[in-house]
Amino acid sequence: MSLPFPPQIERVLYTEEQIDERITQVAAEITARYRDRNLKLIGVLKGSVFFLTALARRLEIPVKIDYLAISSFSASKTVPGVVRIAKDLDEPIEGEDVLVVEDIVDTGLTLRYLLQTLAGRGPNSLGICTLLDRTSRRLVHVPVEFRCFEIGDHFVVGCGLDYKQLYRNLRYLAVMKLESKG
Ligand code: PRP
Repeated sequence: MSLPFPPQIERVLYTEEQIDERITQVAAEITARYRDRNLKLIGVLKGSVFFLTALARRLEIPVKIDYLAISSFSASKTVPGVVRIAKDLDEPIEGEDVLVVEDIVDTGLTLRYLLQTLAGRGPNSLGICTLLDRTSRRLVHVPVEFRCFEIGDHFVVGCGLDYKQLYRNLRYLAVMKLESKG
Protein backbone atom coordinates (compact mmCIF):
# COMPACT_ATOMS: atom_id res chain seq x y z
CA MET A 1 0.00 0.00 0.00
CA SER A 2 1.44 3.40 -0.91
CA LEU A 3 0.81 6.61 1.00
CA PRO A 4 -1.29 9.31 -0.68
CA PHE A 5 0.85 11.90 -2.45
CA PRO A 6 0.85 14.98 -0.19
CA PRO A 7 -0.18 18.23 -1.96
CA GLN A 8 2.87 20.16 -0.73
CA ILE A 9 5.21 17.80 -2.54
CA GLU A 10 6.54 18.93 -5.91
CA ARG A 11 8.21 15.75 -7.18
CA VAL A 12 9.82 12.52 -6.17
CA LEU A 13 13.61 12.78 -6.00
CA TYR A 14 14.33 9.09 -5.37
CA THR A 15 11.85 6.22 -5.35
CA GLU A 16 11.65 3.58 -2.65
CA GLU A 17 13.31 1.12 -5.03
CA GLN A 18 16.20 3.47 -5.82
CA ILE A 19 16.74 4.16 -2.12
CA ASP A 20 16.67 0.44 -1.22
CA GLU A 21 19.16 -0.34 -3.97
CA ARG A 22 21.58 2.36 -2.87
CA ILE A 23 21.32 1.48 0.82
CA THR A 24 22.08 -2.14 -0.07
CA GLN A 25 25.24 -1.00 -1.91
CA VAL A 26 26.43 1.16 0.97
CA ALA A 27 25.65 -1.61 3.46
CA ALA A 28 27.89 -3.93 1.46
CA GLU A 29 30.72 -1.38 1.65
CA ILE A 30 30.27 -1.06 5.39
CA THR A 31 30.10 -4.83 5.86
CA ALA A 32 33.40 -5.20 4.00
CA ARG A 33 35.09 -2.37 5.92
CA TYR A 34 33.99 -3.43 9.40
CA ARG A 35 34.14 -7.22 9.22
CA ASP A 36 35.85 -8.65 12.32
CA ARG A 37 35.64 -5.33 14.14
CA ASN A 38 33.36 -3.94 16.87
CA LEU A 39 30.94 -1.77 14.91
CA LYS A 40 28.50 0.45 16.72
CA LEU A 41 25.97 2.54 14.79
CA ILE A 42 25.05 5.81 16.46
CA GLY A 43 21.84 7.36 15.20
CA VAL A 44 21.24 11.09 15.55
CA LEU A 45 17.58 11.55 16.49
CA LYS A 46 15.18 11.90 15.00
CA GLY A 47 15.83 11.98 11.28
CA SER A 48 18.28 9.10 11.06
CA VAL A 49 15.99 6.45 12.54
CA PHE A 50 14.49 5.22 9.26
CA PHE A 51 17.82 5.15 7.41
CA LEU A 52 19.69 3.54 10.29
CA THR A 53 17.09 0.78 10.53
CA ALA A 54 17.16 0.08 6.79
CA LEU A 55 20.96 0.13 6.76
CA ALA A 56 21.39 -2.09 9.82
CA ARG A 57 19.03 -4.72 8.40
CA ARG A 58 21.26 -5.03 5.34
CA LEU A 59 24.57 -5.33 7.18
CA GLU A 60 25.99 -8.84 7.28
CA ILE A 61 27.96 -8.31 10.48
CA PRO A 62 26.82 -7.99 14.10
CA VAL A 63 26.39 -4.38 15.20
CA LYS A 64 25.48 -2.51 18.33
CA ILE A 65 23.11 0.46 18.06
CA ASP A 66 22.77 3.54 20.24
CA TYR A 67 21.12 6.93 19.78
CA LEU A 68 21.67 10.51 20.80
CA ALA A 69 19.77 13.72 20.24
CA ILE A 70 21.15 17.17 19.69
CA SER A 71 19.75 20.65 20.06
CA SER A 72 20.78 23.61 18.00
CA PHE A 73 20.19 27.16 19.14
CA SER A 74 20.43 30.00 16.66
CA ALA A 75 20.00 33.74 17.01
CA SER A 76 18.40 33.87 13.57
CA LYS A 77 17.56 31.54 10.70
CA THR A 78 20.57 32.70 8.73
CA VAL A 79 23.14 32.44 11.52
CA PRO A 80 24.48 28.96 12.34
CA GLY A 81 23.55 27.85 15.82
CA VAL A 82 25.30 26.43 18.83
CA VAL A 83 24.98 22.66 19.07
CA ARG A 84 24.72 20.63 22.28
CA ILE A 85 23.73 17.09 23.23
CA ALA A 86 20.12 16.93 24.44
CA LYS A 87 20.05 13.15 24.96
CA ASP A 88 23.33 11.33 25.36
CA LEU A 89 24.28 7.78 24.42
CA ASP A 90 23.25 5.00 26.80
CA GLU A 91 26.62 3.22 26.69
CA PRO A 92 30.33 4.14 26.44
CA ILE A 93 32.06 3.89 23.04
CA GLU A 94 35.61 3.36 24.27
CA GLY A 95 37.48 0.92 22.03
CA GLU A 96 34.59 0.57 19.58
CA ASP A 97 34.41 1.30 15.87
CA VAL A 98 31.76 3.99 15.71
CA LEU A 99 29.78 5.03 12.68
CA VAL A 100 27.60 8.09 13.19
CA VAL A 101 24.50 7.69 11.02
CA GLU A 102 22.68 10.76 9.73
CA ASP A 103 19.76 11.37 7.41
CA ILE A 104 21.38 14.51 5.98
CA VAL A 105 24.57 16.53 6.32
CA ASP A 106 24.13 20.22 5.53
CA THR A 107 26.40 22.82 7.10
CA GLY A 108 28.38 20.11 8.88
CA LEU A 109 28.11 21.97 12.19
CA THR A 110 26.17 19.19 13.91
CA LEU A 111 28.67 16.53 12.91
CA ARG A 112 31.71 18.65 13.66
CA TYR A 113 30.45 19.06 17.20
CA LEU A 114 29.52 15.40 17.52
CA LEU A 115 32.84 14.15 16.17
CA GLN A 116 34.77 16.39 18.54
CA THR A 117 32.67 15.25 21.48
CA LEU A 118 32.72 11.53 20.65
CA ALA A 119 36.43 11.52 19.83
CA GLY A 120 37.10 12.48 23.44
CA ARG A 121 35.50 9.22 24.61
CA GLY A 122 38.19 6.98 23.17
CA PRO A 123 36.57 5.08 20.30
CA ASN A 124 38.84 2.88 18.20
CA SER A 125 37.55 4.67 15.09
CA LEU A 126 34.94 7.27 14.23
CA GLY A 127 33.22 7.55 10.86
CA ILE A 128 30.18 9.13 9.23
CA CYS A 129 27.46 7.54 7.13
CA THR A 130 24.63 9.64 5.72
CA LEU A 131 21.64 9.04 3.51
CA LEU A 132 21.89 12.51 1.94
CA ASP A 133 24.82 14.87 1.55
CA ARG A 134 23.99 18.48 0.62
CA THR A 135 27.52 19.78 0.13
CA SER A 136 26.36 23.08 -1.37
CA ARG A 137 25.45 24.19 2.16
CA ARG A 138 28.65 23.08 3.86
CA LEU A 139 30.24 25.60 6.24
CA VAL A 140 32.81 23.33 7.86
CA HIS A 141 34.56 20.25 6.54
CA VAL A 142 33.46 16.90 7.94
CA PRO A 143 34.83 13.57 6.65
CA VAL A 144 31.77 11.80 5.21
CA GLU A 145 32.96 8.27 4.41
CA PHE A 146 29.69 6.67 3.35
CA ARG A 147 26.90 8.52 1.55
CA CYS A 148 23.94 7.24 -0.39
CA PHE A 149 23.07 10.34 -2.40
CA GLU A 150 24.49 13.79 -2.95
CA ILE A 151 21.63 16.22 -3.51
CA GLY A 152 21.29 19.79 -4.74
CA ASP A 153 19.93 22.72 -2.77
CA HIS A 154 16.40 21.34 -2.43
CA PHE A 155 14.15 21.05 0.58
CA VAL A 156 13.69 17.31 0.84
CA VAL A 157 11.31 15.19 2.92
CA GLY A 158 10.76 11.47 3.44
CA CYS A 159 12.88 8.60 4.76
CA GLY A 160 13.20 10.39 8.10
CA LEU A 161 13.42 13.96 6.83
CA ASP A 162 10.59 16.21 7.89
CA TYR A 163 8.77 19.43 7.21
CA LYS A 164 7.36 20.70 10.52
CA GLN A 165 7.71 17.12 11.85
CA LEU A 166 5.59 15.71 9.01
CA TYR A 167 6.48 13.39 6.11
CA ARG A 168 9.28 11.48 7.86
CA ASN A 169 7.40 8.25 7.11
CA LEU A 170 7.28 8.67 3.33
CA ARG A 171 9.05 5.71 1.73
CA TYR A 172 10.46 7.90 -1.04
CA LEU A 173 12.49 11.10 -0.97
CA ALA A 174 10.63 14.10 -2.30
CA VAL A 175 11.19 17.79 -3.00
CA MET A 176 8.80 20.12 -1.23
CA LYS A 177 7.10 22.95 -3.12
CA LEU A 178 8.30 25.29 -0.35
CA GLU A 179 11.90 25.12 -1.45
CA SER A 180 12.83 28.29 0.44
CA LYS A 181 12.01 26.53 3.73
CA GLY A 182 15.12 24.40 3.57
C1 PRP B 1 19.17 17.50 10.67
C2 PRP B 1 20.01 16.26 10.41
C3 PRP B 1 21.30 16.58 11.09
C4 PRP B 1 21.40 18.07 10.96
C5 PRP B 1 22.33 18.39 9.84
O1 PRP B 1 18.56 17.38 11.92
O2 PRP B 1 19.41 15.10 10.94
O3 PRP B 1 21.33 16.18 12.44
O4 PRP B 1 20.09 18.58 10.66
O5 PRP B 1 22.46 19.77 9.70
P1 PRP B 1 23.86 20.50 9.71
O6 PRP B 1 24.81 19.70 8.87
O7 PRP B 1 23.54 21.84 9.11
O8 PRP B 1 24.32 20.61 11.13
P2 PRP B 1 17.34 18.29 12.38
O9 PRP B 1 17.87 19.45 13.16
O10 PRP B 1 16.49 18.64 11.19
O11 PRP B 1 16.57 17.36 13.40
P3 PRP B 1 15.76 15.99 13.12
O12 PRP B 1 16.79 14.94 12.81
O13 PRP B 1 15.05 15.72 14.40
O14 PRP B 1 14.83 16.23 11.95
